[in-house]
Amino acid sequence: MLENTVRQAATTDAEEVRSIVEGLSRPEKMISPKYFYDETGSKLFDEITKLPEYYPTQTELGIMRSCVGEIAALAGEQASLIEFGSGSSLKTHVLLQNLRSLAAYVPVDISEEHLLASAEALRGDYPHIEIIPVVADFTKPFELPTPAIMPVKNIVYFPGSTIGNFEHEDSRALLEVMYGEAGANGALLIGVDLQKDTAILERAYNDSAGVTAAFNRNMLTHLNREFGSDFNVEAYRHDALYNVDKGRIELRLVAESAQTVRLGDASIEIDAGEGILTEYSHKYTLEGFAELAASAGFTVERVWTDEDKLFSVQYLVRD
Ligand code: AVJ
Repeated sequence: MLENTVRQAATTDAEEVRSIVEGLSRPEKMISPKYFYDETGSKLFDEITKLPEYYPTQTELGIMRSCVGEIAALAGEQASLIEFGSGSSLKTHVLLQNLRSLAAYVPVDISEEHLLASAEALRGDYPHIEIIPVVADFTKPFELPTPAIMPVKNIVYFPGSTIGNFEHEDSRALLEVMYGEAGANGALLIGVDLQKDTAILERAYNDSAGVTAAFNRNMLTHLNREFGSDFNVEAYRHDALYNVDKGRIELRLVAESAQTVRLGDASIEIDAGEGILTEYSHKYTLEGFAELAASAGFTVERVWTDEDKLFSVQYLVRD
């Protein structure tokens, strides 16, 4: 059943270790947020999405449920839906249940195991839709599969405000990849978190149950297991602050005492009180996001928000 899968060449462990060491050798140490998502990390993220303080997921889902009729009208018939991400979220179900006679559904993700499991489950739920998972790093251009039914247009779907993980230049580059994958006549449906009160934002990333703290720290457990590093996980505390000037939440792991970490053949010194940046989560104004979209060739055609303007879902078309 899994023969209908497209795979792109993966990076080797040695290349990954080199890039992690590079991030830890910068004046401001950092580790990419992609290392949050091992099995435990994915489960913890799933828990985060259900926390009362973490408004984005439930708000976006609510917006999707109320605007999906309009999305279906914009999408028309026989569109191919290309999701950047594994497609295991409830938001994907809202689309698969409501878009009319989809030509195909193409989830694109780097994590093969998770992608194929979720594609298989979706095939059970939607036997009438051709589902073609693509194993690829979607930050770089990749080749789209050709569905049995010729798509009228491609609609790229990028929910969850994952765009917020990327700094300005990288987010523009990613939007350009989406522009390319959408092709002529194509569109981008994207979830974009909005700027708001610092207190609401900081609560969302410092939940009282400590799930976000566990999620943040688990990154080190993941690196230890996967790449044989020796982070003393217990020595780091979770830190999440909203940087108003930059419009972003910044997650860090702060060493409570001086640490020496071995990774590959590198040895990294971390001072007491020094932070390792693990994630940016950029928040946008509608104007700011429209400007970013325009820099990648997109025009904002429709914006839906919740009543409190916490979150937005946007339909962008190619200029
Ligand atoms: C999955 C990147 C959208 O930025 O809110 C949640 C990840 N990190 N809590 C976000 C996250 C801490 C999330 N994104």
